[in-house]
Amino acid sequence: MFSILIIYEAENLQLLIKELKASIPDLDVHIWPKVENADNIEAILTWKPPLGIMAKFPKLKLIISLGAGVEEILRDPNLPANVPIVRLIEPCVTSRMTEYILLAVLRFHRQAFTYQTFQQARHWQALPLPETSSCTIGILGLGILGTDAAQKLNTLGFPIRGWSRTPKNIDGIECFHGREQLKLCLSKCRVLVCLLPLTRETKGILNRETFSAMPQGSYLINVARGQHLVEQDLLEALDSGQLSGACLDVFSQEPLPKNHPFWSYPQITITPHVATQTDSEYWTKPLIDTIRCFRGGLPLKNVVNRQQGY
Ligand code: NAP
Ligand code: GLV
Repeated sequence: MFSILIIYEAENLQLLIKELKASIPDLDVHIWPKVENADNIEAILTWKPPLGIMAKFPKLKLIISLGAGVEEILRDPNLPANVPIVRLIEPCVTSRMTEYILLAVLRFHRQAFTYQTFQQARHWQALPLPETSSCTIGILGLGILGTDAAQKLNTLGFPIRGWSRTPKNIDGIECFHGREQLKLCLSKCRVLVCLLPLTRETKGILNRETFSAMPQGSYLINVARGQHLVEQDLLEALDSGQLSGACLDVFSQEPLPKNHPFWSYPQITITPHVATQTDSEYWTKPLIDTIRCFRGGLPLKNVVNRQQGY
């Protein structure tokens, strides 16, 4: 018997459980908060667990993160030291994120905001069509999501600059790494996409200094975490024209409070943390693979490095 606890609210969990049990008959699945015997739980599947909850499960051996970002798991003060945390990676999350980024980039690149104001004023005017080759896009974070977005944007002809912690070599992408190369990376970016994990090093990275290293009138897309952004610095950059707009999917406080100034900035596009999502129907295969690997003592994939925070 292997007992797993799901701490996540989602539709179709019963269907997921049925499929899991069909493949792993001795699996015992619980859905939080209904746990008959917390002492038996060996694995937890979660994204944003209640703080301190990990102390309740003395036999915990494996944590599987439904989120690409794991900061909500790592902040638990009772996280047992030697339990591996693995991210459940499935391709749909990546393709949906890339769709969102393509939409945001193309809306900026094809002057959608200007044409919107023209339409409101019943004004007929054609603007010169911009070349993709003249719109360099910077991607902060060249992980699973950043690399896919970089490659798809590059196939449309956008020059891409990517930034990561360690050096990378990706076909068609100009790669930069480390703090010392950040400004150099930003210097030509007309659009900046943030796809970094939230860690000690990356918190507040979208700030005045970052914006001023980019060409005037650039555009920001933040699809990572709200805490990457220094909100006041964004408002100042928009007011000064250093940035011409921003597309924000994530916020320090979610839901974004009704009285937040972002709502009334016409240059800001807001979406409610929906750039990508994973649905329970896609979890079955990667979950079965992970559980089988773990129980068979095989190397786990997508293991989080706790020191690095992602
Ligand atoms: P990932 O595969 O872990 O990739 C993270 C990337 O960030 C790596 O390239 C890493 O560099 C780089 N990085 C980390 N710390 C850095 C630092 N200090 N300086 C420079 N680069 C650094 O993560 P992912 O799966 O692509 O996901 C990225 C983030 O997207 C998640 O953490 C989450 O916050 C966000 N997200 C948002 C949504 C949404 O709906 N809005 C959905 C999913 C994910 P190395 O390659 O050198 O290690
Ligand atoms: C969503 O924001 C995630 O981290 O998967």
